[in-house]
Amino acid sequence: MTSTHYDVAIIGAGPGGYVSAISAAQRGAKVAIVEKQYMGGTCLNVGCIPSKAMLHIAETLHNLESAADLGIMLQQSPVFNMPRAVAFKDKVVKRMTGGVSTLMKGNNVDVFDGIGTVDASKTVSVQKSDGSSSEFTADKIILATGSVPFIPPMPGVDGDHVMNSDTCWNLPKTPESLVCVGGGVIGIELACMFNALGTKVTILEMLPDVLAPVDAEVRKLLVRILGKRGITIVTNAKVEGIEDEGGQKKVNVSTEQGAVSYNAEYVLLAVSRRANTTGLEKLFEFGLDTDRGRVRVNEHMETNLPGIYAIGDLVHGAGLAHVASTEGEVAAVNATGQNVKMSYDVIPNPIYTFPEIAFVGITEAVAREKYPEARIERFPWTAIGKAVAIGETEGFTKVIIGKYGEILGAHIIGPDATNLITEYSLAMRGELTVDEIADTIHPHPTLSEGLREAILAAEGHPIHIPPKQAARAAR
Ligand code: FAD
Ligand code: NAI
Repeated sequence: MTSTHYDVAIIGAGPGGYVSAISAAQRGAKVAIVEKQYMGGTCLNVGCIPSKAMLHIAETLHNLESAADLGIMLQQSPVFNMPRAVAFKDKVVKRMTGGVSTLMKGNNVDVFDGIGTVDASKTVSVQKSDGSSSEFTADKIILATGSVPFIPPMPGVDGDHVMNSDTCWNLPKTPESLVCVGGGVIGIELACMFNALGTKVTILEMLPDVLAPVDAEVRKLLVRILGKRGITIVTNAKVEGIEDEGGQKKVNVSTEQGAVSYNAEYVLLAVSRRANTTGLEKLFEFGLDTDRGRVRVNEHMETNLPGIYAIGDLVHGAGLAHVASTEGEVAAVNATGQNVKMSYDVIPNPIYTFPEIAFVGITEAVAREKYPEARIERFPWTAIGKAVAIGETEGFTKVIIGKYGEILGAHIIGPDATNLITEYSLAMRGELTVDEIADTIHPHPTLSEGLREAILAAEGHPIHIPPKQAARAAR
């Protein structure tokens, strides 16, 4: 047993934890971080990064379908090789997680491998996988233990060929067929990916719509696009259990019309995530406050136990890596003696389907209910030169503008939406008005012109579509 004292100790090295470690160290603190499984957490190992690597491969394959239109004549149909794709994904993950370790070293953060357990006196015990342990104390603790897939309590979830987002990344071959339980972000992104890799995909969603938080018009277009690609989406379909039948999985579903079932080679469970509270048991005994399974924090990211902060998927935030990182920075600043608040006012949401979706602020439905004076307009990619040049004209940009000319919400479905949304996020954060965006020269030909044109359309004077199409703006 060794014993040392730190200014700040962080439990969990996901995008919440490792960013807070860097942030605290750069403020002069002596910092330790404990990680039980993998540097970079869910995001870098089984979440954001591997999914985007595999989606990139899937989209490349999808784009080859129209290669001939660009004069690229393939001698034969492309053959997808899953082991090679997995090797590419592994290389990406290794590079990114190695980068986190390098960053820890570069910022003089001490890394402890093992399960960290914290008690109320801020003593951290680290249990290594070889059975050895160590212990240290800290003035401040940041809990960043993240989340794990929620496995619903129903029959068959632990059977063969039943996967979740922790276990679906190293398949030996492309599944012939897949039933995806849940049409949330994970279900939809992975359905898009597997479909492009050649799998027959069925999504079963218990709500009336998939991607419930997404603007209805955007969601409707995506559902139509995915349907055209052969993805079956069944809504109002609550999965009740999974069985084996004739060498396949049989997924039992209750619908308004009664019980039905869907068969497939694999099942993917994507029915949300739950907080990972490993190592926090002693804190719970000491009264660490929770709310519906997540640790409760105030706007400084501090729990009810003074000097103990919690961030990321462990708390009720947004379930997004960039929000976990921002919360980590806020906690680190507060843990090192300053006093800042976390703001959830402007949170960009990216969804990596192809076409991509991204949004920030309120939806059209909320605007119509709460801000009847809001101007709402959409501008199609078909009228943007760059989108036409790259052959990606499906979709649009929609803006929702308040009475002072402020942006209340923005929704993009189309090429590079996840990057483009940053312009609107910055405008919202900086309280820019639409005039200021319209007065900003946007480079040509770029997709960013579509963002300015959407604003002009809402103002009633778009350049690249006839103004009459902007009639909704006047409503
Ligand atoms: P995590 O990343 O879960 O990290 C927590 C870490 O703590 C883990 O490494 C865990 O091993 C460690 N840990 C837990 N308990 C202990 C303990 N007692 N001792 C030591 N270590 C411990 N978000 C986006 O913004 N964009 C995306 O594109 C995106 N894609 C996703 C795709 C998938 C398939 C999934 C599953 C998630 C995706 N997310 C995405 C969500 C994102 O991964 C999470 O919001 C983010 O990882 C949360 O970060 P975190 O640091 O709170 O927790
Ligand atoms: P989710 O909460 O987004 O969606 C789960 C879906 O499953 C819901 O629509 C729910 O109604 C449905 N469902 C639950 N039980 C069901 C049942 N028995 N039968 C049928 N449907 C059922 O959760 P998901 O997709 O697991 O994602 C978890 C989190 O990961 C998200 O909240 C998101 O924050 C994060 N994430 C973010 C990504 C991004 O930013 N691009 C990508 C992937 C994940």
